[in-house]
Amino acid sequence: MADTGTPPDQPDEAKATGGKTRGFSRRRLVAGAGAAGMLGIAGFGGGTIGHHLGRAEAAPAATTDLTYPFRGERQQGITTPAQDNMYIAAYTVNGDADLQDLRWMLEDWTSAAEQMCAGELIGGEPSTNKDMPPKDTGEAWNYPAAGLTITFGFGKTLFEDSSGKDRFGLKAKMPRILAEGMPKFANEKLRAETTDGDLVVQACSNDPQVCVHAIRNLTRIAFGTAAIKWGQIGYGRTSSTSTDQETPRNLFGFKDGTANIKSQDGSGVLDEHVWAHESGAADWMTGGTYLLARKIHMYLEIWDRVGLGEQEEIIGRDKRYGAPLSVDAPSADKEFDAIDFHAKTGNKPKVPGNSHVAVVAPENNGGHRMLRRGYNYTDGNDSLGRLDAGLFFIAFARDPREGFYPILKKMTETDALTEYLQHVGSGLYAVPPGLRDSDTMIGQRLFE
Ligand code: HEM
Repeated sequence: MADTGTPPDQPDEAKATGGKTRGFSRRRLVAGAGAAGMLGIAGFGGGTIGHHLGRAEAAPAATTDLTYPFRGERQQGITTPAQDNMYIAAYTVNGDADLQDLRWMLEDWTSAAEQMCAGELIGGEPSTNKDMPPKDTGEAWNYPAAGLTITFGFGKTLFEDSSGKDRFGLKAKMPRILAEGMPKFANEKLRAETTDGDLVVQACSNDPQVCVHAIRNLTRIAFGTAAIKWGQIGYGRTSSTSTDQETPRNLFGFKDGTANIKSQDGSGVLDEHVWAHESGAADWMTGGTYLLARKIHMYLEIWDRVGLGEQEEIIGRDKRYGAPLSVDAPSADKEFDAIDFHAKTGNKPKVPGNSHVAVVAPENNGGHRMLRRGYNYTDGNDSLGRLDAGLFFIAFARDPREGFYPILKKMTETDALTEYLQHVGSGLYAVPPGLRDSDTMIGQRLFE
């Protein structure tokens, strides 16, 4: 990570308590994060460009020069302009860990995440003690953070185990949305090993190695308290969350993210569709959101044999420009035209009623919207040489019971696209709001 001129690491002040050792502290973090945290002026999307320049001064900066503040009203990695790469991992907290262990781990995760997002080494400069392993594994040493954001969420099983037992004394504060859980959907074939988890961590950056470094180091810090349940590397963001971004393409070759919620849509839209409003015991979640994850295998080889016209009718948009099929002559400047679901050629709707956009569009779902932030994935191939690939779909929603489940239900039952998909993983997580200046750990209000 970038050299920040942090003073050499202090002697290891890890304190042993109850036979368990803590490796990082808030005090060290403040010393370490100060330099990078104070550099630069907030720029594009709340980020800092080039460590020195504000947006007005900055020529188009390389995406690797971006840093985003770790603290603030909201967690980063939601409305942040979607970075090119992601590594998301879900963790299981060990059965013998107690509330104190969990708090320590979250504090250590928070310190480390704040340092990594600032482009610093975890724990400051490496220790000069050559008999000790360095605190930071080092594969991103002197690399810019490349817009790294690390977003944390809590799953239902953090609050209660499968028999309903309160695990850490937090159950009374479990939001109803988690307690109810995600319903089952048609045509899904979820694998236990890629579903759920007590905690989720989403690391996004424009440098894939920075993402891997983040998850690897958080996993190392968690050792003894929590372990990875599942992880997924994603590339080629399949959504734009900012109007400044070019719409990317998914593995079916279509532009994806055109009609997404964008950060520029303003606080009204985000408040209505993305930011949670909770009351009572779950009010620690107010200002947070819910992360919905679906690992969706895409049958690429079958799709690739479908004629272009049929592919476009299945999606409801033109493949080249992403323009709705309701426009007369698709072109680049029509990508963002409103979709006219009533437009017809003769008696036939131009945008078929079972096309993906017709099925999921807010116009046909009571106005409900979600913020999509998924990534393409490729996990190698099967024994016949078919790619094991698809979309790691991620959405953020204020209340998935309105803004996600009914839409996914309709999609899995009636969408023409469904024939080419198989849902193999799933997760629902409560994403708490951002960290206040005085907070020492993510989700602190849950523990107060
Ligand atoms: C592999 C699976 C999927 C593929 C290939 C896919 C592809 C696309 C494409 C190409 C678009 C049009 C461009 C755009 O507006 O972004 C789109 C739009 C959309 N998709 Fe998906 N999608 C998938 C899964 C899902 C899932 C699981 C959901 C949630 C239930 C979803 C919700 C939406 C929504 C809400 C829109 C915007 C529709 C509009 O407002 O016009 N998609 N998708």
